[in-house]
Amino acid sequence: MKRLHARVALITGAGMGIGRAVALRFAEEGALLALIDRDAEALHATAEAARGLGARVIAVVADATEAAAADGLASSALDAFGRIDLLVNNVGGGKPGRIWELSVDDWDEVMRLNLRSTFLFTRAVVPHMIERRSGRIVCLSSGARNGTIWNSYYAGASAYSTAKAGIHGFVRDMAIELAEHQVTINAVAPGPIDTELAGPYLRRMDEAGLPYAPSLMTPLGRLGTPREVADAVLFLASDESSYITGITLDVLGGR
Ligand SMILES: NC(=O)c1ccc[n+]([C@@H]2O[C@H](COP(=O)([O-])OP(=O)(O)OC[C@H]3O[C@@H](n4cnc5c(N)ncnc54)[C@H](O)[C@@H]3O)[C@@H](O)[C@H]2O)c1
Repeated sequence: MKRLHARVALITGAGMGIGRAVALRFAEEGALLALIDRDAEALHATAEAARGLGARVIAVVADATEAAAADGLASSALDAFGRIDLLVNNVGGGKPGRIWELSVDDWDEVMRLNLRSTFLFTRAVVPHMIERRSGRIVCLSSGARNGTIWNSYYAGASAYSTAKAGIHGFVRDMAIELAEHQVTINAVAPGPIDTELAGPYLRRMDEAGLPYAPSLMTPLGRLGTPREVADAVLFLASDESSYITGITLDVLGGR
């Protein structure tokens, strides 16, 4: 039996990177997918790849920081599949800049992308999960929740680190709110991951031999892969994690 056989999963930011890897990993394990991304071409490529693995997929192009997008994806998933079992709050990202370079708009955008989207999608699915007394939510935090050595040293990542610490706090509190309803919520905190967008930036620091380069700061001595993160998300979305809620699972290569 596949680990997510016939489970319905909502995944935000599924077009590229970790979100795409999670969508394909879930498809391999038998999930039905409701995907959202603002990049239509990337989203449709993920949807096609997931269908190629046998998954039924709905794909919605929209901005995941808008309440209408969250509510709309939840109701489309319910219309198409009849229930929602899993939510992966994957959308997120940062704006590099030291504090004196960071505009108010940049700061707000980072909070919006990481925290507002996580709040909106969680709020959209939770009433349904509570009613069914079943559900798993996984959010993407980051090793940056404890500070990002390489980013802080070269570019400044205070907004990103603040937002990712916020995800950890959100998960801690939501776990308590949702526990009596048998819904679990956890986070995964990746280290430097070789995604389409972040990978080239991280590798440039490695190749320049900089003393704070990501791979040098990581005991396992290399960047992680999107699939390695997806495997951790899969564990927290599966029955194997049934007595785990409110944690942030580090996928940091040992740091
Ligand atoms: N890549 C890393 O090294 C790394 C490390 C730690 C944590 N993370 C976290 O993991 C998650 C995924 O990271 P990634 O590097 O794969 O992401 P990414 O920047 O590659 O983006 C993934 C997808 O999200 C979509 N997206 C961005 N903003 C959106 C919006 N407002 N609405 C809808 N879609 C949107 C993009 O189009 C893209 O397809 C994020 O929360 C990120 O902060 C990543």
